[in-house]
Amino acid sequence: MQAAKHEHWSSGFTFLLAAVGSAVGLGNIWRFPYVVAENGGGAFVLIYLAIVFVFGVPLLMSELMIGRTAQKPPVSALKSFGESKAQKLWNILGWSYVLVPLGILTFYSVVAGWTLDYAIGMMIGSFNDLQDGESAKIFQDLQDSPATQIFWMTLAVGITVGIVARGLKSGLEKTVEILMPALFVILIVLVLYASITGEFLKSVAFLFEPDFSKITPELVLMAAGQAFFSLSLGSGAIMVYGSYLTKDISIPKMAVGVACADTFVALLAGFAIFPIVFAFGVDHAGGPGLVFVTLPIVFNDMGGIGQVFGVLFFLLLAFAAVTSTISLLEPMVAQLSEQGSFKRARAAIYTGAGFWFVGIFVALSSNILKDVHPLGFLPLFAGMNIEAVINFLAANVFMLLNGLLVAIFVGWSIRRSVTLEEMGLGDSMIFKTWFLLVRFIVPLGVGFIFYDVVF
Ligand code: TRP
Repeated sequence: MQAAKHEHWSSGFTFLLAAVGSAVGLGNIWRFPYVVAENGGGAFVLIYLAIVFVFGVPLLMSELMIGRTAQKPPVSALKSFGESKAQKLWNILGWSYVLVPLGILTFYSVVAGWTLDYAIGMMIGSFNDLQDGESAKIFQDLQDSPATQIFWMTLAVGITVGIVARGLKSGLEKTVEILMPALFVILIVLVLYASITGEFLKSVAFLFEPDFSKITPELVLMAAGQAFFSLSLGSGAIMVYGSYLTKDISIPKMAVGVACADTFVALLAGFAIFPIVFAFGVDHAGGPGLVFVTLPIVFNDMGGIGQVFGVLFFLLLAFAAVTSTISLLEPMVAQLSEQGSFKRARAAIYTGAGFWFVGIFVALSSNILKDVHPLGFLPLFAGMNIEAVINFLAANVFMLLNGLLVAIFVGWSIRRSVTLEEMGLGDSMIFKTWFLLVRFIVPLGVGFIFYDVVF
């Protein structure tokens, strides 16, 4: 089997669309608003911003740099530096970088499936004339039904595999070139409408007025987890996208661009949701149901135009989800096809079948397997069902661990002359600051957070 050739993005802008597409996802539009609400608003946002810029940007730069320097998918990329005695460890890290995204995909696809269900449901009017309590019941029924859960999850997986199988140019690029502009237009329309008709000032105060008494170690942990997830760090997504960059593109600029766009969209999602939620006086701290239970009630109360906004909102979510799922599948598919194991389309189908199969158990975790606690005999995992275990391991433990190890790899194992050249900043203050962060601050900070999560 001949190894697939390594391709490149058509332009720096296409890379940005794809990388922002990876970063902007359910994490921004579904999770960020409700996590902010649950953690008391402004204080959480402040800590979140600090983590994005102190840990997030340096790590984005590091992961992009590894991919771009090596011009190879993650496992081969980490191998290719081959200078240190710890090389075995770095090989394992490479595999962790392609496996963690697949773990994330198992539960991400389930929620992506919900967004497809809701987008279509809004179009055909399933959410019109909602009676009291009906919205919560619709969401509950979805999770209670094994067949419905598996159906929508399978559709989400199918779309993802279909796009990734077509390759970088006709799969990934085409998708982000259409969906990302559409996503921005929809988001702006929703924010304008919500801000003009809803409680805009109250939302500003809620999102930006920090109540410092609310800052606790748990809040910092939640903010770090959310930031890593939202920036797609600690998984091969950014690394493999970086490997498709040509040498003339500035890595620091791209990293800052991705972090700013991602954070901006998370905040905009807050401004699309909170003004109308406050205006209609419905519960804003409803947790995961904020988007799937509360918003349909609000759209219903708006009357005729509500259905239009409902369709737009869930299309927005679905688009954001798909541009993220493709980045979660791409690392493994690129690895398998470029190391010559399978042709790309086959690699996509086999990998897709693998995580789809595990995804079934996740889809059933909210119904028939609800009370199965696979690692319940360990105190750390007590009370966690299958979905919770995979989510915790992939999105908390291994994402943080990967980020921590990659910072050590870039800061201590790769030759400084190599990083210096790749960053293209000269031996400047910015470069030195970045290097300091990657060598000391990021490993210590993330190590501390990791310790807290696990112990
Ligand atoms: N960042 C996306 C979101 O916020 C999800 C995502 C895409 C992701 N690729 C990732 C998360 C890699 C972790 C790792 O929804």
